[in-house]
Amino acid sequence: MAIPTSRAAEPGIITIDEEKCTGCGLCVTVCKDYSIILVNGKAKAGKNPAFGCIGCGHCMAVCPEGAISVNGRTVSPDDLFDLPPKEAAADYGQLLSLLQRRRSIREFTGKEVEAEKISLILDAARTAPMGLPPSDVNVLVFGSKAANRAFAEDFCRYLEGMRWFVSDWFLTLMRPFWGKANDEVFRGFVRPCFDIFISKMKEGENVVTYDAPLAIYFYGSPYCDPADPIVAATYAMIAGESLGLGTCMLGAIHPLIQSGKRAGKFREKYGIRYKSREGIFVIFGYSSVKYSKGIARTFASVNISN
Ligand SMILES: Cc1cc2nc3c(=O)[nH]c(=O)nc-3n(C[C@H](O)[C@H](O)[C@H](O)COP(=O)(O)O)c2cc1C
Ligand code: SF4
Ligand code: SF4
Repeated sequence: MAIPTSRAAEPGIITIDEEKCTGCGLCVTVCKDYSIILVNGKAKAGKNPAFGCIGCGHCMAVCPEGAISVNGRTVSPDDLFDLPPKEAAADYGQLLSLLQRRRSIREFTGKEVEAEKISLILDAARTAPMGLPPSDVNVLVFGSKAANRAFAEDFCRYLEGMRWFVSDWFLTLMRPFWGKANDEVFRGFVRPCFDIFISKMKEGENVVTYDAPLAIYFYGSPYCDPADPIVAATYAMIAGESLGLGTCMLGAIHPLIQSGKRAGKFREKYGIRYKSREGIFVIFGYSSVKYSKGIARTFASVNISN
């Protein structure tokens, strides 16, 4: 038994060094698969796991004696590293300042983003939590202004052939299936997006990806929790901010390259491996605009139960 993902179909293999095990039980406590039990004061792989070891690695990471190894599902003891000291971690005040200073940036100086920063962004995004390990998030990087621009131009040409998707007849046909809110979003947002993306590009202005020097597309797989690419993209965005880059999430591209043959061809052209329920672009670059104030934001509702 094992939970399948695009990268793993078998459970992790748990090996316990009885000599090293002190029977503290920490691995049993953190394993939410019930893969480990204590027998006569020693940890052992249990016979009745919930799913079969998912390869989260928590047991290896928590064991103070280094007595557990998990191999498979892309994880192994080689993936363990020493934690940075607690004092090196950002505190709430530092984190909040970073978050409050963030604005969605769509205006960039011509400066390219250094390869090292791209790699640091991806390193940070890889730490994002995921529904199930190993992560099923896929990443496509447009690492220069030229590459990003070429993609946006191609996307606009692709959209021109998809106008039926926002036509009156199609939206009227779909309304009983996808409901009032979707109908309103398509008429009030998606259709104007088509118009503005295409017409502005014809005038030479890229309002799809704003000619940012870096655009990264995070998308899932058919197995993936739809939230996973969004969580990873959020981590990437925060990392970009910490590196002095302006950032902006772009939600408009992903849903428009999911359905139909043309979408399949478009994805194939860019090596996009799957259609997926969720995905999002994040653009990064050196901002040419400086904001003087923050803007207080609110949630739609907050209900607290105690
Ligand atoms: C899920 C998501 C999708 C977004 N899609 C786009 C987009 O396609 N184009 C764009 O210009 N901005 C996009 N944005 C940026 C929002 O418009 C922006 O967050 C909003 O204007 C608020 O500004 P702030 O981020 O500076 O608070 C997106 C943001 C999110 C979170
Ligand atoms: S955490 Fe390590 S030492 Fe503690 S019971 Fe598990 S294997 Fe043994
Ligand atoms: S890797 Fe995760 S699921 Fe597997 S035994 Fe360890 S804690 Fe349990």
